[in-house]
Amino acid sequence: MEHFSVRHGETHCENVALRTIAEAVGTPSYVYSKASIKSQLQKLKSAFASYPTHICYAVKANSNLTLLSEIFEEDVGADIVSLGELERALKAGVKPSAVAFSGVGKRDDELRRALEVGIFSFNVESLAEVENLARVAKELGKIAPISLRINPNIDVKTNPKIATGLFSTKFGLVEAEALELVQTIAEQKHLRLKGVGCHIGSQILDLSPMKEAAERMASFAAKLVALGQKLEFIDMGGGLGIRYKNEEPPSIKAYAETLINAIKPTGLNLIIEPGRLVVGNAGALLCSVLATKKTPKKSFVIVDGAMNDLVRPAMYDAYHGIACVAKKNGPEALYDVVGPVCETGDIFGENRSLPELKSGDLIYLESAGAYGSSMASNYNTRPRAAEVLVDGDHFKIVKRRESLDDLWRDEIL
Ligand SMILES: Cc1ncc(COP(=O)(O)O)c(C=O)c1O
Repeated sequence: MEHFSVRHGETHCENVALRTIAEAVGTPSYVYSKASIKSQLQKLKSAFASYPTHICYAVKANSNLTLLSEIFEEDVGADIVSLGELERALKAGVKPSAVAFSGVGKRDDELRRALEVGIFSFNVESLAEVENLARVAKELGKIAPISLRINPNIDVKTNPKIATGLFSTKFGLVEAEALELVQTIAEQKHLRLKGVGCHIGSQILDLSPMKEAAERMASFAAKLVALGQKLEFIDMGGGLGIRYKNEEPPSIKAYAETLINAIKPTGLNLIIEPGRLVVGNAGALLCSVLATKKTPKKSFVIVDGAMNDLVRPAMYDAYHGIACVAKKNGPEALYDVVGPVCETGDIFGENRSLPELKSGDLIYLESAGAYGSSMASNYNTRPRAAEVLVDGDHFKIVKRRESLDDLWRDEIL
């Protein structure tokens, strides 16, 4: 987390002390560094500069409107998976012609709106989707641009819950089935095949499956071109991993070289859909300690953030570094850092070495910018956290903390 550092014994995001944010905004709060997001995008753009590449940021990773608008300002498009994400992206200023619509199931109203605004491509995953798209496009008198998402059956060493490129998952089309769909699409005058693609998983730390997938996509695309298809691009999805603990993710440069080398022989444009890579290490979840307690087996630090704010540890057994905002020099002991939600699994970190903490002390969870706020819920009727964007010496609230009234606003008594 390059843009979070300790100065005078206190953690800062860029030039702003996390304590200042906690005092002004309260906790739990997500804190994001604008410089971190911009620098990741710059690294991506320069790594892919030698080859015609379009970056479509995966909105699901963090869909805060202000963050999206900062991202789209860099001439980056969007990878979306729902009507909600499409509308968010449009509100944040994305160019419709830079939107790719992924996902294994899309409703008619979602297809309709995406056709009306004129998105770049529908990443299609089934015959039913092709048929629906043809029907809705015909109703609207539009031509739907299609990219076929292939399931290359490639095993990725990542958490099985975020591996998406195997036949045991719901994602993508088997190549033979995709070939049949090419014919179906060719017969529909309201459909146009523009590309092929895949997304084999997330938090990938080894480039070899990416290379294999890109080579497979390149040879499949070449086959289609030989059959007379006028393809424009290959979409390689997202998935490059980041450091949460002590992982050594491949460099963005090596990632770019791997994809470019595989796709170049086809002469087709390249699309990438990074999410975690752009925002993951740009954010932290700032929490206050509520209490500490001991059982004969364990010591606990109970904080005011919980699994409803950041579900990754409970859902994926994901690791997030946990640190104190104020550096303490005393002896450390092992604690489980837990939230107040009534679930045994509401654990942010087990056996973490921390100094003695007391109620009111501030801690933060590292690398919480991706799949944090965007996966938050109101479980246990807890208002979702505030979100803050830091820019140099300044910070602003980019999502206010939910009020209690927000929680039951849509309920009917
Ligand atoms: C189709 C697609 N593209 C891109 C992404 C973004 O992945 P990541 O955040 O790992 O880059 C995902 C994540 O699930 C996805 O499903």
